[in-house]
Amino acid sequence: LPEYKVVMLGSGGVGKSMLTTKFINGNFSEDYDPTIEDSYRKQCTVDNISCVLDVLDTAGQEEYIGLRDYQIRSGDCFVLVYSIQSRETLDEAEAIAEKIFQTKNTHEVPIVLVGNKSDCEDKRKVSQQDGRRVAKGIGSGFYETSAKTGQNVEDVFIQCVRRIKHF
Ligand code: GTP
Ligand code: MG
Repeated sequence: LPEYKVVMLGSGGVGKSMLTTKFINGNFSEDYDPTIEDSYRKQCTVDNISCVLDVLDTAGQEEYIGLRDYQIRSGDCFVLVYSIQSRETLDEAEAIAEKIFQTKNTHEVPIVLVGNKSDCEDKRKVSQQDGRRVAKGIGSGFYETSAKTGQNVEDVFIQCVRRIKHF
């Protein structure tokens, strides 16, 4: 089966790990345990074609982001996660996109921008429109998700596979 490497990137605490585990095995935890680096594999079928997704869950906390250059080089597709509770995390996602373009030396990179924690509507600081605007600017896909309820989580990874095939 073809194998694709999906790299989860974004600020600390935005929900990269919970989105990953929700997709991989359905798990969600309220506890925050900062990641250094973890990887997971899952077989999936998209548009009647099976493949294996190798998902690399990376660190958002400053002290661990030294690995980022290598992680970007190794990725076929990138999920850029921010929290709808923080404008700063959207700015950071946009900055990471620029770093991906530099590192890959092209703008033709499969990226899905994800505004997570959509279940926390009362604490929203970033409108869906602002997220979409950034996605348009970087030429990426866009979803708002909740790792807690599972809203749109599967769709993010399906979109990754479609984008990988498109590029
Ligand atoms: P780093 O590994 O440090 O980069 O953080 P991360 O991006 O992996 O964040 P993580 O998935 O560990 O989630 C951080 C905190 O946010 C945890 O307490 C989660 O329970 C919570 N969280 C993650 N996703 C959601 C979500 O969709 N909704 C809500 N309400 N909480 C979430
Ligand atoms: Mg994590």
